[in-house]
Amino acid sequence: MNYKSALHNPIFKFISQASKELQVDSYVIGGFVRDLILGRDFKKDIDIVAVGSGIELALKVSELLPRKPKVQVFKTYGTAMLRFEDTEIEFVGARKESYTHDSRNPIVENGTLEDDQNRRDFTINALALSLNESDFGDLLDPFDGLKDIDNKILKTPLDPDITYSDDPLRMMRAIRFATQLNFEIEEHSLQSISKNAERIKIISGERIVDELNKILSTRKPSIGFLHLYKTGLLETLLPELTALNQVEEIEGQTHKNNFYHTLEVVDNICPNTDDVWLRWAALLHDIGKAPTKRFNKKQGWTFHGHEFLGGKMVKKLFERLHMPLNQKMKFVQKMVIMSSRPIVLSQDIVTDSAVRRLVFDAGEDVENLMTLCEADITTKNPTKFKKYHKNFEIVRQKIVEVEEKDSVRNFQPPISGEEIMEIFDLKPSREIGVLKEAVKEAILEGEIPNEYEAAYQFVLKRAEKLGLKKK
Ligand code: CTP
Repeated sequence: MNYKSALHNPIFKFISQASKELQVDSYVIGGFVRDLILGRDFKKDIDIVAVGSGIELALKVSELLPRKPKVQVFKTYGTAMLRFEDTEIEFVGARKESYTHDSRNPIVENGTLEDDQNRRDFTINALALSLNESDFGDLLDPFDGLKDIDNKILKTPLDPDITYSDDPLRMMRAIRFATQLNFEIEEHSLQSISKNAERIKIISGERIVDELNKILSTRKPSIGFLHLYKTGLLETLLPELTALNQVEEIEGQTHKNNFYHTLEVVDNICPNTDDVWLRWAALLHDIGKAPTKRFNKKQGWTFHGHEFLGGKMVKKLFERLHMPLNQKMKFVQKMVIMSSRPIVLSQDIVTDSAVRRLVFDAGEDVENLMTLCEADITTKNPTKFKKYHKNFEIVRQKIVEVEEKDSVRNFQPPISGEEIMEIFDLKPSREIGVLKEAVKEAILEGEIPNEYEAAYQFVLKRAEKLGLKKK
């Protein structure tokens, strides 16, 4: 099969020309070819294999290009990269690679194109298109990758035990591609992942999180998380989640399976947000439930304080996986800690003051919190489902109303500590804190509007009770 017409990016002609001049065969390989055949959007990076030196080929291509772009050379890996328009072109020499099992450093030898295709992760990622003048655009597909694309199947070119132990991250890549592309993972591969799951421990947190983020960024992350669970990878990576898959029964009373509930919440939130951190919050919102689960005769199963404990667990989990411990982590933590707040509202009569408190506590993140809580409605009872959603609509309306009136989202006290000190001729003291807190409470309760004059009069009255006199 020939794909000449699909190789319309002018870079391919330049690479072809450079190959000819150096008398080195070259091919475009990997994700670019896979996505081209799948009809997916073009990726921003293109991988080129040279049967010879990838670095020399890159330097030659740069020489031929009108702007002579800078070539970044990675000598240790024998690779080179240059930018052309908005794409990154990576060059590598064809390799015959074998790994020794006591060391993670591969022994690399120069190889043929087929050697190189052999050592790639999946048949669909081993597809190559020739950039050589004689057969420009011809597909080289020694492992029937095209057929696997048709059958929507992920298969390794070699025995999966070899492919996965060469780079255990590929176990996660299999699951990630299955989720992104809605492909099946071939049975032998799945068995091999289950067998080798423990080896994921040698992979860095950063690479693991990169794959988890990609799974979470798909339309239906539960596909990936179920694979991770069934193969045993999830137990190693996120034991906080697998712990939620333990339903107990005491005196005939059970509780909901919070693992499957969590996966439903994650899938539910996807149409409403592309923010991967909000999706993380959906994934982790119930992790405090396993360690706080208790049973007593009066109340049945309880999970008291699970949100607060969950928030603490978020930090530990982020640390363990080498995730950023910045505002993103704080955001996920805040969402987990507050995850039950709007639910309580939605089950009751929605009062203005409760909404004002919610907006005050959630601040700028109140919409995200609402999105999370709406996704959290997984009841199969249609009456309850309708009622909760309707109440959330009311909560959303009230958020707009109380914001218009009192703008408590980024609450600034209408009367400052300095002003209170001035009015009563006080030095910094406990009373000032008490008065400021009383003003905030009065605004949140709706006793006074969020305005200077009202707050001033309120402070005068309250100060009298404390025995303070105006100067
Ligand atoms: N590859 C591999 N094993 C890995 C990573 C990559 O064999 N652990 C090979 C595959 O042939 C892959 C190519 O290197 O197609 C490029 O890898 P990468 O850019 O990471 O992934 P893509 O397949 O291009 O897809 P995506 O950009 O969606 O990750």
